[in-house]
Amino acid sequence: MLPDAAAVALAAEVIRAGGLVAFPTETVYGLGADALRAEAVRGIFTAKGRPATDPLIIHLHEASQARDVAVAFPPPAQTLAEAFWPGPLTLVLPRGPRVPPEVTAGRDTVAVRVPAHPVARALLRAAAAPIAAPSANRFGRPSPTTAQHVLDDLDGLIDLVLDAGPVTIGLESTIVDVTQSPPAILRPGGLSLEALRAVAPEIVVRERYLPTDSTADAPGMFLKHYAPRAELRLFEGERAAVLAQMRSLAGEGVGILATDEDAAAFVSTQALIERLGPGSDAAAVGRRLFAGLRALDQRGATVIFARLPEGEGLWRAIRDRLYRAAEGCVIQVAG
Ligand code: TXA
Ligand code: MG
Repeated sequence: MLPDAAAVALAAEVIRAGGLVAFPTETVYGLGADALRAEAVRGIFTAKGRPATDPLIIHLHEASQARDVAVAFPPPAQTLAEAFWPGPLTLVLPRGPRVPPEVTAGRDTVAVRVPAHPVARALLRAAAAPIAAPSANRFGRPSPTTAQHVLDDLDGLIDLVLDAGPVTIGLESTIVDVTQSPPAILRPGGLSLEALRAVAPEIVVRERYLPTDSTADAPGMFLKHYAPRAELRLFEGERAAVLAQMRSLAGEGVGILATDEDAAAFVSTQALIERLGPGSDAAAVGRRLFAGLRALDQRGATVIFARLPEGEGLWRAIRDRLYRAAEGCVIQVAG
């Protein structure tokens, strides 16, 4: 059941009063505050335990509001916004003067997106303000795909959660920097490279992975970003050989995060199994990925095994999130 108009109106009131509201988007739940109030935005960093150097995404009700937060909307941005907003695309634009430095971590660019989720849209309309929102998890934890995940991390630290059930995509937005030419994908996400290239063939991929202790200026590029508490180990190689290797190690306390087909290999082991959906369905696997990591933590797994998937489309984002959560630790299995 969706939150009713009264709940959305109350949430908008909290935003306007400078408070913190967790709300659903089509990608993951966000933790929102009025983007133009520095003190409200600082509250997001405090609640999340997020370093002030990691900038936030500003959510808008309409693309036309981009001029309130950005000084320019270059031609590739227009093309991309027309094609994919509202939706799981974030554009990095030149920052406008009204945006407090807290939002952008002092940079002269600002990340902006128009979400598609009806509750996010209702909140943005009612608050009549741009809403800065990172994912609504404690810093470093898997992004929340249900309201319960938000409460597990942030209960007592925020004012309100709008609960609209599980999100539909489950992976964060794709971030494209349109201040560079050609535009560059900084983070793969819920919108695929293939879909982007169909509209803007010149787009390049510039994902980077930096060690957790790196001081380089590359927001959100760090390994260990979406990590469960248990140590995550990834396995790569020919499928049968990988499954055989994982199975031989699948004892007590081991969590298995796997597609339905792969999970069948572990039924007679002591491992804790979380099924992600059919291996042919990247959307289903993406939707369940973070929830699966959280579930294995809750069930007491001390180490989690997952097979690194291949493929394009959403599989790129799935690989990226697994890779970061495992801090880049991939075990190559000889076939
Ligand atoms: O789907 C999403 O993107 C969700 C929902 C709530 O919209 N938001 C989200 O935000 O996942 P999160 O926690 O990933 O934080 C925002 C990220 C930063 O870590 C950084 O990677 C990127 O957005 N970012 C923000 N401002 C940026 C900028 N000026 N330049 C480059 N990257 C930026
Ligand atoms: Mg996040």
